[in-house]
Amino acid sequence: MPVQVIVGAQWGDEGKGKLVDMLSEHADIVARYQGGANAGHTVCIGDRQYVLHLIPSGMFHPHITCVIGNGVVIDPVALLDEIAQLEAAGVSIAGRLLISHTAHLIMPYHKQLDVIREVQSSNKIGTTGRGIGPAYIDKFMRTGIRIVDLLDRDVFARKLTANLEEKNKILTKVYGETKIDVDALIEEYQAFDKRIDDYITDTALFLNTELHRGKKVIAEGAQGALLDIDHGTYPYVTSSSPTSGGACTGLGIPPTAITSVLGVVKAYTTRVGNGPFPTEQHEEAGVRLREIGHEFGATTGRPRRCGWFDAVAMRYSAMINGVDTIAVTKLDVLDDFDEIPVCIGYEHRGKRLRSFPSDLSTLERISPVYEMFEGWKTPVSGVRTYGDLPAKARRYVEALAALTGTRLWVVSVGPRRDQSIQVP
Ligand code: GDP
Ligand code: IMO
Ligand code: MG
Repeated sequence: MPVQVIVGAQWGDEGKGKLVDMLSEHADIVARYQGGANAGHTVCIGDRQYVLHLIPSGMFHPHITCVIGNGVVIDPVALLDEIAQLEAAGVSIAGRLLISHTAHLIMPYHKQLDVIREVQSSNKIGTTGRGIGPAYIDKFMRTGIRIVDLLDRDVFARKLTANLEEKNKILTKVYGETKIDVDALIEEYQAFDKRIDDYITDTALFLNTELHRGKKVIAEGAQGALLDIDHGTYPYVTSSSPTSGGACTGLGIPPTAITSVLGVVKAYTTRVGNGPFPTEQHEEAGVRLREIGHEFGATTGRPRRCGWFDAVAMRYSAMINGVDTIAVTKLDVLDDFDEIPVCIGYEHRGKRLRSFPSDLSTLERISPVYEMFEGWKTPVSGVRTYGDLPAKARRYVEALAALTGTRLWVVSVGPRRDQSIQVP
């Protein structure tokens, strides 16, 4: 039962979309297991660039069936918009997309509360404003509305009415906003039901049946391990489980079905939103990385914070995820640097730390210890075989694997499909 999990091993935007698209060639099913439209996964085919938020990144291979699992929180507005955009671009969705009947819905009040809480909070997370946190709150509060509820108008109306009773009090009395009209919202969501009805199914049953038939599944993570609600830099995290364990709960597949975990890592580090980032570069190097790497969020367009590769954080991420192989992306962005620092350790109050600190106050105060690598000063974006990479570039990526206890499998030297090098 081969399931390969693809996880973002840093703080998101590592290039998961590109890798999932690449690996889809030899798979049957691609299934997203958590998060929502906070994700922005880019797939470049020729000169065209597609950014996917909810639809799995295997969609560009006609033989692939795409699954949105029960662990995902679905905003029907975003989903229908994405389906329409893909169909307009000539990508046929019908019969190739399955949506879990037990996935939770993101409602307009979730998005509204996400934005208002961020504006009013004294401790801003820097969320994407897509309603992710508030939707998962309702899921865990056991008041959430699921896709299956859309199928029965009476059940949907009852659940929505109960939810709005509370949400309207919060919106009007706590935040001074206007009330949401129950009837209008029922009508709006009934219209969604008609449009997504054909895609809804028991995806856990589908996946397990297909796995028993020997089909190959890619479990596509969104965000990154360091944004994980349990294992990330809490509270500066997202509200789901991007780590590989999330693939089991978010899809309803057993841990024994997972045969490998690919960690996608950038050759340096980026982060969008607030929270600790030990190797962040505020001066010239950070600006250069952002400009050369076009580091602006695929979902919100916000500039990404940039810094050097952090082998301590990555080693931790590899441990939590059980990463066996890594794909190093955006190596080409480092082409012009004379020297490339890599963080190989943390020092705290004069002492070397043995592991990634779990408390933020320590993480915010550590000093990174860097090892310097010589830059290769040659463009690598046209290189297609590992042996043709400059020796100094090979030394760099091999060091990243060695420092993090993982095996180097793919090196990416540009956004396009043909710009990936498989390491022998
Ligand atoms: P994801 O969220 O992990 O799927 O990553 P994003 O799509 O948010 O961000 C990755 C960005 O880097 C996208 O714009 C990709 O097209 C781009 N990209 C991926 N791999 C490479 C690479 O090797 N080199 C360069 N220059 N860009 C890349
Ligand atoms: P992909 O899948 C990078 C960040 C936000 C914020 C924090 C919480 O494209 O890698 P949320 O809206 O989830 O409640 O925001 O998480 N964040 C991401 N950062 N890539 C993403 O997705 C992200 N999704 C959320 O910036 O700091
Ligand atoms: Mg992204």
